[in-house]
Amino acid sequence: MSLKSNIHPENLPKHIAIIMDGNGRWAKEKGFLRVFGHENGTKSVRTTVESCAELGIQNLTLYAFSTENWNRPKLEVKTLMQLLISSLKKEMKTMQKNSIRLNAIGNIEHLPASVQKELLHVIDETKNNTQMTLTLALSYGSRDELVNATRQICDKVKNNIISVENIDETLINQHLYTQNLPDVDLLIRTSGEKRISNFLLWQIAYAELYFTDVYWPDFTNENLYEAIINYQKRERRFGKTSEQLH
Ligand code: FPP
Repeated sequence: MSLKSNIHPENLPKHIAIIMDGNGRWAKEKGFLRVFGHENGTKSVRTTVESCAELGIQNLTLYAFSTENWNRPKLEVKTLMQLLISSLKKEMKTMQKNSIRLNAIGNIEHLPASVQKELLHVIDETKNNTQMTLTLALSYGSRDELVNATRQICDKVKNNIISVENIDETLINQHLYTQNLPDVDLLIRTSGEKRISNFLLWQIAYAELYFTDVYWPDFTNENLYEAIINYQKRERRFGKTSEQLH
């Protein structure tokens, strides 16, 4: 029986972020090239996006390409970019059907022009959708995001647009790529690695972390339900005591 029926709809995470890891190992263990793992990873992207929308998750953010990933072999980078274009082309219909709004965070100008073009096209076409915001982190690095935000804020101080006293958490939030997204409630990382890898460092301050050994291409709806059920069993105290919450 599906685990879906064990999920409490009144206590869903508002924002799930996923580090989709293990594509390369999945492929290598089967005797294939790493890029085959990425190809199969796109299938998990599809099922996860659809399941989240169906469950009523309002925000899903996927770590699709980090600033560090540019250092991978040229062929792998090229394949990942091609997969991105083909997935965007293929999935636009599904996004419209499920009223999913596409969003992107990261250094988007660093992406090849062909990727930027497709990305901006789908972002524009889906901008009025309201069921779920799907954010792709592309050429994204959290430290890079914080450097960027700091520069913008300093610039505003220098030009007397704001004063140093105006700098608070809200203001910093407003200068991050994620400015319109709520904090992450649940961060999932697949493949057994227990690292954050420069992903949403500011935004996961109070997130629940969930690690699974499953490689990303093998990640199913049931694995997603398992993560959400696990999240729902945790007590989120945000620094308070357990007694203060009850
Ligand atoms: C990590 O596995 C995965 C990535 C760096 C890329 C994720 C990309 C996809 C799933 C496909 C395209 C995405 C979208 C949104 C359509 P890894 O290569 O680091 O695996 P390893 O740790 O086993 O080497």
